[in-house]
Amino acid sequence: MSGERLLELDNVSKFFPIGGFFSRAKMTAVNEVSFALETGRPEIFTIVGESGSGKSTLAKMILGSETADRGTIRFDGADIAGIRSRSAREAFMTKVQPVFQNPFEAFNPLTRIDEYLFSTAHRFKGAASRADREALADTALQRVGLSLAEIRGRYSHELSGGELQRVAIARALIPEPKLIIADEPVSMVDASLRMSIVNLFRELRDTLKVSIIYITHDLATAYYIADRVIIMRKGIVVESGDARTVLDNPQHEYSIALKNAVLPPDPREASAIIRQRQQDAVTLTPRQIVSA
Ligand SMILES: Nc1ncnc2c1ncn2[C@@H]1O[C@H](COP(=O)(O)OP(=O)(O)OP(=O)(O)O)[C@@H](O)[C@H]1O
Ligand SMILES: [Mg+2]
Repeated sequence: MSGERLLELDNVSKFFPIGGFFSRAKMTAVNEVSFALETGRPEIFTIVGESGSGKSTLAKMILGSETADRGTIRFDGADIAGIRSRSAREAFMTKVQPVFQNPFEAFNPLTRIDEYLFSTAHRFKGAASRADREALADTALQRVGLSLAEIRGRYSHELSGGELQRVAIARALIPEPKLIIADEPVSMVDASLRMSIVNLFRELRDTLKVSIIYITHDLATAYYIADRVIIMRKGIVVESGDARTVLDNPQHEYSIALKNAVLPPDPREASAIIRQRQQDAVTLTPRQIVSA
């Protein structure tokens, strides 16, 4: 079904009130953003931008937890503003699943984590029997490199951040979504485990044919996995396109600055660059550093 749109954003904007209760002033968190993902062409679509550039607001609008003030968001051809009933919302959530930044916030510390998977299997797949729920949970866990046997009966504090984020991803996989929206999914994960999670997204794209909107301010992981990328600044898309083209040859001064800040994922290469930068800083005069 190539050529049809899985997700289409058309001039989407979001404004937030500023300046207190009686003020009418508004700030533009997301400013006329447009892009589309095609059906039948799974990809990792990366949104990069500094803090406050509107990435999470954009993600929330796609997930339907914030409404767009202007523009339209269509999923599978239907305007998501039309999703009002509980059953329509459930049907939408079967196809679009989130993965959040902090897995420790996503799981109640007093609830066993397997119970989350079982209830997701019940809610979205109608798995009525214990055996069916366990089978769905185990299949999803295996896809992220875990198994039900490993997490059965355990609580969130008994797992590492990286393991727990894998469980969160497994949970998102149970409804068999067409799109996963992952907002800063590795920023709370230990640096040494980040790449394994990022690689997992690639694997899921290839094996499950799921598209992933990967949101990050970390250009190193963006560079590593993105198929396409948009770079946001102050709510505006300043650059967009094929990831290699944009990231290898940034045009906008902000994208160039981002590119220069990137460190390669290989720690040895990264530390060589850091050493070089430190040497450069020592050899530059203060005036040169200010104007650099
Ligand atoms: N509910 C809200 N009410 C008012 N302002 C908000 C709200 N949510 C976000 N904003 C503002 O909108 C702008 C964009 O915020 P957003 O959280 O989307 O940025 P972000 O790119 O996700 O940043 P970060 O990298 O820090 O997560 C910011 O200036 C923020 O303060
Ligand atoms: Mg954010």
